[in-house]
Amino acid sequence: MNVLGIESSCDETAASIVSDGKTMLSNVVASSLELHRYYGGVVPEIAARSHIQSIIPVIEESLTQSALGWDDIDAIAVTHGAGLGGSLLVGVTTAKTLAITKNKPLYAVNHVAGHVYANFITNTTLNNYYLPDNQPEFPLLALIVSGGHSQLVYFKNHFKYKLLGQTRDDAIGEAFDKVARIIGLPYPGGPSIADAALSGNPNQFTLPKAKMAKYDFSFSGLKTAVLRLSQELIGEDYHFPSFKLAERLNSTQKANIAASFQRVAIESVVDKALIAYNEYKPKTFVIAGGVASNLELRRQIKDRFSINVSYTDPKLCTDNGAMIACIGYYQAKFGIDLADPYSLAIQPNLVM
Ligand code: KG4
Ligand code: ZN
Repeated sequence: MNVLGIESSCDETAASIVSDGKTMLSNVVASSLELHRYYGGVVPEIAARSHIQSIIPVIEESLTQSALGWDDIDAIAVTHGAGLGGSLLVGVTTAKTLAITKNKPLYAVNHVAGHVYANFITNTTLNNYYLPDNQPEFPLLALIVSGGHSQLVYFKNHFKYKLLGQTRDDAIGEAFDKVARIIGLPYPGGPSIADAALSGNPNQFTLPKAKMAKYDFSFSGLKTAVLRLSQELIGEDYHFPSFKLAERLNSTQKANIAASFQRVAIESVVDKALIAYNEYKPKTFVIAGGVASNLELRRQIKDRFSINVSYTDPKLCTDNGAMIACIGYYQAKFGIDLADPYSLAIQPNLVM
């Protein structure tokens, strides 16, 4: 069964074809990231406009890359939430139109659940992807860490899950993005912080780790601590405006802040994941979402977990259509969320 997955929840316009929920035949991503860099974050109107321009070429390219035609596509899966309204609308409207005109069943996908399914892709006809050898087994514990979400989810089986905990304020990726902005590193902050941290000392500064209820997270205090630390380093008090800080910090200070922040932010999610792992004793543990490509996260997991954890390619951690096509296959298999192409609506605030 070949599923075309369409993703447009934030600033990536993406389409991919995945066969039987595990073999990736194409993966095309057009990002409007460059257009947002100047503003230091995603501008919803610009993202939506860019999706309109890219969506048809991206879908066509994904068909070409897979060497399949419309007759070979068995279903369409599309992200209908959570995400930016204007962005979601473009993917959903396109998917609905294609489902009607090409006469294909349509599946509505939860973006956050979709991230977990990137780990189920174990084969590909494409070059330059490093994929896990085996699909995850249930019960499965997933640490979902992205720009919009930080969650620990326990899956008893496909679509039988329990949300163990989540962030009470910022998502971890959002904290990376905001800290990068404070110290003057380019958007998106995750990769910029990770890069800068390579030349910094992760133990240079003591930053606070939030004390939260069992599996919950919080990152806003850590972000404020970085702001206060930066003000202190340049000899100013808390009145000093954050947008003027970057020019007064030198590159060693920035690298040390990046490394110390990264260590603590990552430690705080690994702490909770480890407690959940020991309590629930799942067969597999996976990480998902944009921050799952962070090497410090993978290093800390290796150091602290007694099991071997397999990871997917960083290109499948950030937003992509393959994870949507993959979960779409399982939705079809388990009869879940078959959508009416005439009435499917976006759900910007969809939760797990
Ligand atoms: O999953 P994703 O592409 O979009 C959402 O669903 O939010 O995640 C994007 C987030 C951004 O906040 C970005 O800064 C972060 O993932 N990110 C990283 C890394 N690569 C991307 N964070 C830390 N280290 C990275 N290497
Ligand atoms: Zn995402």
